[in-house]
Order: sequence, then structure tokens, then C-alpha cells
Amino acid sequence: VATPRDAEIRKDVQTYYGQVLKKSADLQTNACVTAARPVPQHIREALQNVHEEVSLRYYGCGLVIPECLENCWILDLGSGSGRDCYALSQLVGEKGHVTGIDMTEGQVEVANKYIEYHMGKYGFQAPNVTFIRGYIEKLEEAGIKNESYDIVISNCVINLVPDKQQVLQEVYRVLKHGGELYFSDVYASLELPEEIRTHKVLWGECLGGALYWKDLSILAKKIGFCPPRLVTASFITVQNKELENVIGDCRFVSATFRLFKLPKTGPTQKCQVIYNGGITGHEKELIFDANFTFKKDEAVEVDEETVAILKNSRFAQGFLIGPDGEKLPTCGAYTALEVKDVITDPFELAGRSDSAESRSSSAVGGCCSAKKCS
Ligand SMILES: C[S@@+](CC[C@H](N)C(=O)[O-])C[C@H]1O[C@@H](n2cnc3c(N)ncnc32)[C@H](O)[C@@H]1O
Repeated sequence: VATPRDAEIRKDVQTYYGQVLKKSADLQTNACVTAARPVPQHIREALQNVHEEVSLRYYGCGLVIPECLENCWILDLGSGSGRDCYALSQLVGEKGHVTGIDMTEGQVEVANKYIEYHMGKYGFQAPNVTFIRGYIEKLEEAGIKNESYDIVISNCVINLVPDKQQVLQEVYRVLKHGGELYFSDVYASLELPEEIRTHKVLWGECLGGALYWKDLSILAKKIGFCPPRLVTASFITVQNKELENVIGDCRFVSATFRLFKLPKTGPTQKCQVIYNGGITGHEKELIFDANFTFKKDEAVEVDEETVAILKNSRFAQGFLIGPDGEKLPTCGAYTALEVKDVITDPFELAGRSDSAESRSSSAVGGCCSAKKCS
């Protein structure tokens, strides 16, 4: 049952996204235009095929299009006007399916308006996308069944929900074993003070409800997910003096994490794996997260947790996984990642990306940048 404060937040958020904002440019922060990393060509093309009105009402903060999507069933939490759903519906193909759920009527209306347009553009006989009006913390009420999705995505939404544990618990329930939550959201550098958490505009702008980044792994563990895998991160800046004063020393990043739900199997050991280059759009290399990039035909030694993920998820088909503790025969190079090099702090990653970007002005990044490149 929602508390009176939760109900008030929902009402304010619905007004903000249903009536106050009309397009991405109306936002007061750069959460939506933060640079991340180059967008693969096939994703760029899928985004370019999305109808202009849908793209204009995009309010996401990252790129939530993972790899290996053919035939997958995907659920988008807080799908808004449907930009990510439509890009994904093309990438999963006619045998896959995408469901978008959002609580704001105006957003769901825009999304529904263009189903026929996109299916025609992709040449699909029957729609493979559905939009539902409902609450992401109450997926059961919306008719979403246990273990029914391969992937759950979400783009800048969970911060807007007061009860984040309830959302993640629902995601865990609806994911199949081996499935993952691949999501971009806003994180704070500290536990947010009351003054920020109760500020209506900051909440609407996705800052006031941001999770302290260290709390994500605590929540994930409590629910049963593997530890979060950090994919990308970039700093958010606020272009409004009044809001800056309220925020004070707190910093924000938008970050993409992947959270896997694995079947309960016995313990695994670290071992060598070789990527076979079979994943569409990632034939030369697969950038799995900020720590692991798998180059085709190159042996990489990975830790127990990564082995468990690769063995038990949809990525299994893309890898040759060596017997525990043994080396695989390879004609290519061999690499091993030192534990001390593993990066889990999105603020540290955003700092590294910033300095890398200033060294190379040619980088094209971010979700919105992808649109501008069209
Ligand atoms: C920042 S927008 C992002 C929309 C979309 N993901 C995109 O990238 O354009 C946040 C969306 O989350 C929705 N939302 C917020 N809280 C929600 C909740 N508890 N249940 C369902 N939708 C919610 C809002 O209606 C809004 O459309």
C-alpha cells in the first residue's frame, strides 16, 4: 500500500511527465544528454527508425540496449513515450516481444499511437510491442507473470519511485533465471538530505530520489541478484543556479548497471573463456561492462562470478568456457584482469571517461547524441 507521501510523489511525477514537460529540451539538467560511449551502428540505425514525436519525448539518461537480443522478451519499466521499446522491438525481431509499462497516461498514449507506424516500417506482420498503463512497483497488479522475461530494462525511472526495493523485488520475480536487469539511472555521491529529497523539481528532474550509489549493491544482494556490473557512467550537471544552491556539495552521475538473476547452482571457479564473435553488431569485440571487453578468439581469464554469468545466461552461446582452472588452446592473445583493477564506483568511472573524452574530442557518445547523429 502506497503511503500518502508516495501517492503525492506519484501525482507530482505524473503531472511533470504528462503536462509540464513537452520535450527532452525542457529538462533542467543534462541527465539526458550525458556522453557515454560510442553507439554501435546497428543500434544507431534502430534509434533513427523511431518516430520523431516519440523521440522528442525521450527523457532517458543512458543507452539501455544490451547485446544478444534476437527473440528475447523484454520489459521496459517506465517506458515513457516508447523510444527504447521501439528500438528494441526492431532488434528482438518478430519472434521477440517488448512490453512497456508506465503510469502516466499522456506518455502511454503517445507510445500507443505509433505501434502501426513502427510495425509497418520494420515489415512485421503482427505487433511485437505492447504498452501498459501501470506502476512498476506493482507489476503483478499489471498482469506481469513470474519468470516471464529474458531482460528487464529501465531508463531513468527507478529514481522516481520512493520504494526502490519493491521495484527490484518485482524485477527479480518477473525475470527468468539467467535473465538480467539492464538499466540506466541517476546515483548520488552521498545519502541525500531531506532538503533535496523533498524538493519537487529536483525529484521530477530525477535527482531528488537518486539512490546513494553504494546502496545499489546492498539492495541487489538482499534480493538475490549477483553484484551489480557497472557498464558506463557520466556526470550530471545542473544548469540552474537556484537548484545548484539546494544541491550543495552533492554530486550526481547517470550510470548503467547490469544485474543478473542466476539459477542456484554449485560454486564455480575462475577459468578462461573465449568469445566466438557470434553476437550481432559485436562481431569483433563484446564490451560486457566497464571491466571486461572480450575480443573475438582471445582467451581471457575471468573470475568465478563472471563465469557463472556467462555459463547461465543468454551469453552462453557466444562463449567457449574452459574447464575450471585450465588454459584453453588459442591462437590469439591471452589476458587476465587483476582484481585490483575492477571498477565498481560510477563516480570514478565518470571521472575516467571525462579525462579520456578531453583527450579525444572525436568520441561520439550518449543516447541523445545518437539521435543528433542521424
Ligand atoms: C524520466 S522519464 C523516462 C521515460 C523513458 N524511460 C524514456 O527514456 O524516455 C520517467 C518515466 O517514468 C514514469 N514513472 C515514474 N514513476 C513510475 C512508477 N512508479 N510506475 C510507472 N511509471 C513511472 C513516468 O511516468 C515517466 O514517463
